This record gives sequence, structure tokens and C-alpha cells, in this order.
Amino acid sequence: MATLLVTGGAGFIGSNFVHHVVAHTDHRVVVLDKLTYAGNRASLDGLPADRVELVVGDIADADLVDALFARVDAVVHYAAESHNDNSLHDPRPFLDTNIIGTYTLLEAARRHDRRLHHISTDEVYGDLELDDPRRFTESTPYNPSSPYSSTKAGSDLLVRAWVRSFGVRATISNCSNNYGPYQHVEKFIPRQITNVIRGIRPKLYGAGENVRDWIHADDHSSAVLTILDKGEIGQTYLIGADGEKDNKEVVELILSLFGQSPDAYDHVTDRPGHDLRYAIDSTKLRTELGWTPAYQDFETGLKATIDWYRDNEAWWAPAKDGVEAFYASKGQ
Ligand code: NAD
Ligand code: DAU
Repeated sequence: MATLLVTGGAGFIGSNFVHHVVAHTDHRVVVLDKLTYAGNRASLDGLPADRVELVVGDIADADLVDALFARVDAVVHYAAESHNDNSLHDPRPFLDTNIIGTYTLLEAARRHDRRLHHISTDEVYGDLELDDPRRFTESTPYNPSSPYSSTKAGSDLLVRAWVRSFGVRATISNCSNNYGPYQHVEKFIPRQITNVIRGIRPKLYGAGENVRDWIHADDHSSAVLTILDKGEIGQTYLIGADGEKDNKEVVELILSLFGQSPDAYDHVTDRPGHDLRYAIDSTKLRTELGWTPAYQDFETGLKATIDWYRDNEAWWAPAKDGVEAFYASKGQ
């Protein structure tokens, strides 16, 4: 049994990880989360108080981080500003949290000699053409497009430097697009599901040809636990579940699962600099560490996600109107 510090554990993927750890291990978890607009303490409801503790604070607060590192065995770092559209509107918080916040954690890991796993994204590799036979691997060169992905790329490079220069015991994972419960309604899949529930037509950026490589958040969690257990210090592992779909296909499937006409959506203003396609080759994680995703069928995972949003309107409703007003102001 160990005590894990999980930064960003009240956000989408972090809270899924905390639920996964409680269900599948006997570890204790200390969550450090600033509870920004993206964090929600209700995402941790129902978890046992003797296993999960929430500390509200900033990962860039060096004194707080120092005190927390002193009482945990390992750190899993999810906290970030995570939304591309927001980074195009106001990049500054992305620098503060993704760069300075990660730097603050690395310095604490160095002082306390704590194992750290850094959560990152496939977006650091830029994008692929639709007909490119290649997928991203651990040796693909970094080529980020947005303020969000460039700050994530910067944070990955800081981790690599702290491993090499200071001997910090860290690993990195770069995962593809996650879906599942507890995802904020600003993001593509929950936005469209909650639009349909509210009687609003789904909104597709541009022509809807952009491809994302979908993985269920619970599979991301099992991959991270596998890397924590068996990963080699200093290594990067790509996490993906062979889930490439274009956005049009996803919106049409959501509408069909609600029993609506699959063309009942609107095309809206495209995202500036919109990455065309992401695709992950997760061979290294599967062959070296023996990981496999449990959700092999996107439609089954999407149905379960739709059910979750239907059953948990109280969780998402408070954010919905503000998010839609923001998108409307940008023609989206
Ligand atoms: P999210 O926006 O849902 O959650 C982020 C969490 O971090 C929130 O709870 C927020 O309150 C917290 N946070 C933000 N700034 C903080 C700060 N300064 N100090 C402490 N807490 C802070 O994000 P997510 O989608 O769950 O992403 C989590 C991580 O996974 C990020 O590092 C992201 O880059 C990475 N990632 C996300 C995806 C995806 O599909 N969403 C895919 C690959 C990687
Ligand atoms: O690839 C991993 C990344 O996936 C993570 O690093 C990010 O944190 C996460 O937000 C996600 O980034 P994307 O930009 O791919 O996700 P988003 O949900 O914002 O959009 C998914 C796709 O859907 C993208 O092509 C833009 C499009 N889109 C999005 C919204 C919100 C629409 O067509 N309509 C929409 O309303």
C-alpha cells in the first residue's frame, strides 16, 4: 500500500484515475487541485474518506507542494489547463500551470526524491495528414500547434531535463483523446451529448473531417497504473486504443444513439490552427509493459457515457449555459 499525490484529481481524467485507484488497489490518494472552472469536488463524491483526501491549492505554490511531497510515496501529475479553445482566447494560465506548475513539482520531486509520473498528450507531436500511414510513436519529433499543446510540450521537456540533469525518478505518458464520465461540457463529446439532451443542435467545427483517436478514460487510468508499477525511469510511453474517428462520424453516432436523424447538427466556425489528425501507436506500452485497453468498442463506451450524462445532469448543468454563451460569442 502506498500514498499517491494526484494533482488535478478533481478534473476529468484525474478523477477517473482516483476512482480507478480506489477500485483496483489499496493505495491512499491525496488530491491536490485548485478547483478551477474545470475542477469539481463532486467528481470525488462517494469515495471513502479514509482513502481519498482533497487538498485545494495550486501546484505552483512551492510551500504547499513541499509539505505534500513530504507525506506521499509517489506523484501522478494530471493538473493542467487543458482546453485548446481557451488557450487561443487567453494563453497566460496555460503558462502558469502547465510550465511553472510542472517546474514546481519537479523541484519538489528533486528535493524529496519522490517518483513522479507526468501525464501528457499526443498533441505535442502536432498533426498528421488524413492519408498518412504513420502514427505517432515515442520517437516522433515534437511539433505542437496551439498555446495549450506548446505548454504541454514544454512541460514534457522540463521532465526529461530534470531526469537527466538531477536524477529525478520520472516517467512520461502521452495519451490520445479521452472520453467518459466527469468530462467538462466545454469538450467535444460531452458538449454534443448535453446539447442533444437540452434540445440544442450539435456543433461541428468546419467540415468535421478532423480525426481524433478516442480512448476511454478508465483505460487511460489502467495504463498509468501499469507505468507506475512497471515503467522504466526516464522513459516515455504513448497511450492509445486504436480509436480513430472523424468528428462528423462521432456526432452522427451520438445523434443516432439518441434516436435522432444523424444529420441534425450545424457546421460552425472552425478552430484557428485546428490540428487535422492524431493517431497513436501504443506498441511499446503493450509489448514492454503488457497493457491492453478494456474498452475495445467505441460505440459501447459512448453509450455508457451518454447514460452517465443523462443520469448526472446536476453535475454538468451549472456549467452548461456559460459554456454555450462563450462558444456563441465566437460563432461556435
Ligand atoms: P481537466 O481540465 O478536466 O482537469 C484539470 C484539473 O486540473 C482540474 O481539476 C483543475 O481544477 C486542475 N488544475 C488546473 N490548474 C491547476 C493548478 N494550477 N493547480 C492545481 N490544480 C489545477 O483536464 P483533463 O482533460 O482531465 O486533463 C488532465 C491531464 O491529462 C492534463 O495534463 C492533460 O494535458 C492530459 N491529457 C488530456 C487528454 C484529454 O483527452 N482530455 C488527453 C491526453 C492528455
Ligand atoms: O489529443 C489529446 C487532447 O484531446 C488533450 O490533450 C486535450 O486536453 C483535450 O482537450 C483534447 O483536445 P482536442 O482539442 O482534440 O479536444 P476537443 O474536445 O476540444 O475537440 C475534439 C475535436 O472536436 C476537435 O477536432 C475539435 C472538434 N470540436 C470541438 C468542440 C468543442 C467540434 O467540432 N465541435 C465542438 O463543439
